[in-house]
Amino acid sequence: MSSEAEPTQRLFFALWPNDVVREQLHRAGRRIHKQGKQVARDNLHITLVFVGSVNAEQRDCMIAAAEAVSGQPFELRFEKAGVFGRSRVQWLAPGETPEAMLTLARDLSAALEPCGYEPERRPYRAHVTTARKVTRPTPVTEIDPIHWSVSDFALVESVTHQEGPEYRVLKRWNLG
Ligand code: 2AM
Repeated sequence: MSSEAEPTQRLFFALWPNDVVREQLHRAGRRIHKQGKQVARDNLHITLVFVGSVNAEQRDCMIAAAEAVSGQPFELRFEKAGVFGRSRVQWLAPGETPEAMLTLARDLSAALEPCGYEPERRPYRAHVTTARKVTRPTPVTEIDPIHWSVSDFALVESVTHQEGPEYRVLKRWNLG
């Protein structure tokens, strides 16, 4: 998003699980993991809005915009696993995506537009990526359900290292 040669950060808005849910997601991912590279436990999350590279001004604009978004808490029940063929990622997903979550993703996306964010054209699909570089498609399977009570959302920075990405939570906002 930022075009000039100035410092940028690679950002996204996400749902960030607590340690208990994180461990459950990690275990479920490990159980179904047969190929590709498993996502590190500390990196597991659900992306709400992927922003990409922004400068400090755009970041501050987005923080102010997120501040003004008022969402409601909601419950997620993870019960499916599968692979997105195109992006070659293995995922875990809720059986149903609550309306409050779709509203949150939509409101956040709309709020970020004045800061230079270009909204995603693809329909929003709530998922946790558990492995990448998956080469073989696999059918959608059921998993032992995992409950996640969502009461906040986060702004996260993706920092690239040789060993892989590190995600740093910069800020969190409560829902409700
Ligand atoms: P994914 O997990 O389904 O691959 C940080 O890169 C997060 O933003 C990842 O969770 C990734 O989703 C998501 N994301 C969405 N769109 C992206 C894009 N165009 N490039 C990189 N990551 C993207």
